[in-house]
This record gives sequence, structure tokens and C-alpha cells, in this order.
Amino acid sequence: MPFDGRTALVTGAGRGIGREIAVGLARAGARVAVLARSSAQVGETVELIRRDGGAALAVPADVTDGAAREDALGAIADAFGPVEVLVSNAAVVGPLGPSTRVDLGEWTRNLTTNIIAPAALAFAVLPAMVQRGWGRIVTVSSGIVANPAGMVGGNAYVTGKAALEAHTLNLAAETAGTGVTVNVYRPGSVDTAMQEWVRTRDEADIPALHRRFTDAYRRGRLITPEASAAALLARLAGDGTGEIWDVADDLLPAT
Ligand SMILES: NC(=O)c1ccc[n+]([C@@H]2O[C@H](COP(=O)([O-])OP(=O)(O)OC[C@H]3O[C@@H](n4cnc5c(N)ncnc54)[C@H](OP(=O)(O)O)[C@@H]3O)[C@@H](O)[C@H]2O)c1
Repeated sequence: MPFDGRTALVTGAGRGIGREIAVGLARAGARVAVLARSSAQVGETVELIRRDGGAALAVPADVTDGAAREDALGAIADAFGPVEVLVSNAAVVGPLGPSTRVDLGEWTRNLTTNIIAPAALAFAVLPAMVQRGWGRIVTVSSGIVANPAGMVGGNAYVTGKAALEAHTLNLAAETAGTGVTVNVYRPGSVDTAMQEWVRTRDEADIPALHRRFTDAYRRGRLITPEASAAALLARLAGDGTGEIWDVADDLLPAT
């Protein structure tokens, strides 16, 4: 039980990869705070964990809202104590489409969700982790960061994930030797609502991207959220820091 008695917060844990990370952490002994905007989905994940004999707390919140983040961390501290494992997984993929037609407000909202919120959460939980000499912070990124030109029509997403990795690796260097590890996770192409959302966009706006996502789905190339979460959890208990963990290294055949 590598996380026995540890307090974990998983953002975006209402469905998809985040839900499976939350379930896996609970099975590994952690008390897990489940955060997402949809109360119903948060409730389902909490129920799954409790039925499995684990400890979970529902924390319905929007990560882009600073006051909501503070309230969530307060509720977690009251129920379980300070966060010792932070998995920043919540993200949005849109807006998608030709960049000059994208609304700047939506572009900014993507980055507020995908990079500002994970950074703010890390800064909030880090002092207590350093004080206790133990902590785990993981940001869930994307393999697209290795090939930013490969997602035409997804400028906000690619920009935010690249910034997220830079933030994570820089923070890892800053916290080296404290007992707190800070790492990036690239989860692979996973069969979730996010993939489905891309497939249901107007193909004319994102022709190459739409084709790639639809082909991957039809050819059965997507991995399950469970498999992706398991690859992350296998790494998380270790002492490695400042690393980019790619599911492809664990699960997919080398190409
Ligand atoms: N699926 C893939 O193929 C793939 C590939 C590469 C990277 N990733 C990354 O993997 C992570 C999980 O993706 P997924 O595919 O599991 O996506 P998903 O099924 O869409 O789940 C995303 C989760 O994030 C939550 N969320 C989104 N915006 C939020 C906000 N403002 N505040 C709080 N929670 C919020 C969603 O719940 P609410 O909407 O209810 O808030 C949901 O629980 C993301 O970081 C994604 O970028 C996924």
C-alpha cells in the first residue's frame, strides 16, 4: 500500500483518466479528494471508491476559480489533512479550429484551466509538503508537446500543455532534495469523453485532427483510462523527480 494514509487530490476525477487515477490511489491506500465541476460525476467516482472500501471526499469545484480552489483545499484539510499527493489532471481541449477565428476569451480560458490552475494548486500545497519532507505532484500533459506542429487547430491546448511541462520541470528543479517529487505524465491516446468531443467537432474546422482522432478510434488504437492510470501510479510511488513519464514507455510497443 504505497500511499497508505496519504491525502491525495485528483483534479478532473469525475470521469476518464482522472477517475481511474483516483480509484487507483484509493486502492493504494490514499484518502482521495475527487475534484471536478460536475457534482454528479464527482459523486459517481466517490461512490466507486467507497464501494471498493476506500476513503473519498467529493470536492465539486471549478479549478479556474481561485476562491473555489481555496475552499476545496480547506475542505480537504478539514476532512483528511493537508494534500500530500496532487495529481493535476483536469483540462479542456478546446477551443479548436483555425487560430485566427478562435475567440481570445476561450483561448485564455483554456490556458487558465490547463496551466494557471495546476500552477496555483501546486504553489498552494507545496509549502506543507516541503515542511513535512514528503510530497508528490504530477501534472497530466500530452505527448503532443513533443510535436507541437502535430495538432493543427489546437493552438491553445498545445501552448498550455507545453507551458505546463516547463512549469513542472522548473518546479522540480526548485524543489530538488526536499522530499517532494514533481513530474509530468503523458497519458497516451485514451478512450475518454475528451477524445469523443474532438470527434464530434465540425470536420471542416480541423480536418487533419478530426481524421486522426476518428481513425484512432475506429482502428481500436485508444487505450483504456484504467491502463493509462495504472502506468502513472506505477511511477508515482518512486523517488524520481523532474521526469517526463510517457505511457508509451510502459504500455505501447516501441516504434
Ligand atoms: N484522452 C486522451 O487521449 C488524452 C491525451 C493526452 C492528454 N490527455 C490529458 O489527460 C487528462 C485527462 O483527460 P481525459 O481524456 O480523461 O478528459 P475528460 O474525460 O474530458 O475528463 C476531464 C476531467 O477534467 C474536468 N475538468 C475540466 N475542466 C475543469 C475545470 N475547469 N475545473 C474542474 N475540473 C475540470 C472534467 O470534469 P467537468 O467538466 O465536470 O469539470 C473531467 O472530470 C487531461 O489533462 C488531458 O489533457 C488526454
